[in-house]
Amino acid sequence: MSNRQWLLARRPTGPVGRSCFEYRVSPDRRGQGAPGQVLVQWELLLCAPTIRNWISGARDSYHPVVEIGDPVLAPALGVIVESNNPDFPIGARLFGTGSWQDQQWVDPSAGYRLIPEGTSSVDAMGVLGINAVTAYCGLMPIGQPKAGEVLLVSGAAGSVGSIVCQIGRILGCKVIGLAGGPDKLRWLREECGVDHVIDYKAENIPARLDAIVPEGVDIYFDNVGGAILETAAARMRQAGRIILCGQIAAYDSGRAITAPPIDMMRLIYGGIRIEGFLARHHMERIPEALETLGQWNDQGLLAHREDVRAGLEQLPETFAALFTGSNEGTLLARVSDGEGNPV
Ligand SMILES: NC(=O)c1ccc[n+]([C@@H]2O[C@H](COP(=O)([O-])OP(=O)(O)OC[C@H]3O[C@@H](n4cnc5c(N)ncnc54)[C@H](OP(=O)(O)O)[C@@H]3O)[C@@H](O)[C@H]2O)c1
Repeated sequence: MSNRQWLLARRPTGPVGRSCFEYRVSPDRRGQGAPGQVLVQWELLLCAPTIRNWISGARDSYHPVVEIGDPVLAPALGVIVESNNPDFPIGARLFGTGSWQDQQWVDPSAGYRLIPEGTSSVDAMGVLGINAVTAYCGLMPIGQPKAGEVLLVSGAAGSVGSIVCQIGRILGCKVIGLAGGPDKLRWLREECGVDHVIDYKAENIPARLDAIVPEGVDIYFDNVGGAILETAAARMRQAGRIILCGQIAAYDSGRAITAPPIDMMRLIYGGIRIEGFLARHHMERIPEALETLGQWNDQGLLAHREDVRAGLEQLPETFAALFTGSNEGTLLARVSDGEGNPV
């Protein structure tokens, strides 16, 4: 089997398109691994907005940097097709850092996780995947949500945001979700049980917030940054918590992502906390997150949808859907069928 790849051809200066990447078909990689490594055939690649940061070339923000000519990195799930490591046998499924190609040799002890039998690959990337874990690890330790508190979530209909909203609902918060377009708002209200929804593309957010929660916001889970962060910061209550998860509104800007104008004295006098995080900063919580999310899912408490788009050749267009908002839930590219057949 040959190894299809998408390599980074040039750094994007605006929206990402096919011209940023070079498609290449290289030889099969079997028989080339080092001791301890395994060869993984990727099945599902997670389209994570922050890949846009990894390919930007910025080197000052702790995130990985994809070099020109290298395969684009992506969180991925695949099956082990060759093993030099007895703890990771052929046929087992693995999640961790993959890349936009069919096959990759990895050291499985470097942060990779085996997927339990009985969990479907799509669930392992969706409702029990890294974005759901991110939702849990951001909201629980940093937000410390309590029943009756007001939780505002941007990017609310997305992969991370929809789980944040529902954890808040389960814990008894009053949840307000911001998303783009009537379909996403309907899904949030009817399927996710979000109390109030605002179409950030069509409605006046400050006016709507002032009408819905004149008392203000206790927790703001920020997936987008920019003007929405500014609006939320101006409405935080005493001891409020702003959780910085992502800044997708600015990823395509081609510039360093800076804070919007925020009244800093309000934060000081209000004892309001702003905290950024990555899921991996909370490694010790990941087993708890997976167990709790799994229980809630089994109890039917979590609505979720995964937008699985087939084809490695279509990856640039699939990835770009994150930035137009055409994805409905966790955006996954299927690049093989799980039985070893490329898609
Ligand atoms: N800190 C971490 O560890 C971590 C981990 C995973 C993800 N994240 C961050 O979490 C955020 C959500 O990621 P996700 O994977 O769950 O993606 P997602 O929300 O499933 O998909 C991205 C969504 O962002 C919205 N969007 C796109 N451009 C926007 C803009 N200019 N302004 C406002 N909204 C915009 C779109 O929804 P609408 O149709 O509603 O506009 C789009 O569907 C991202 O910022 C990502 O970087 C952080």
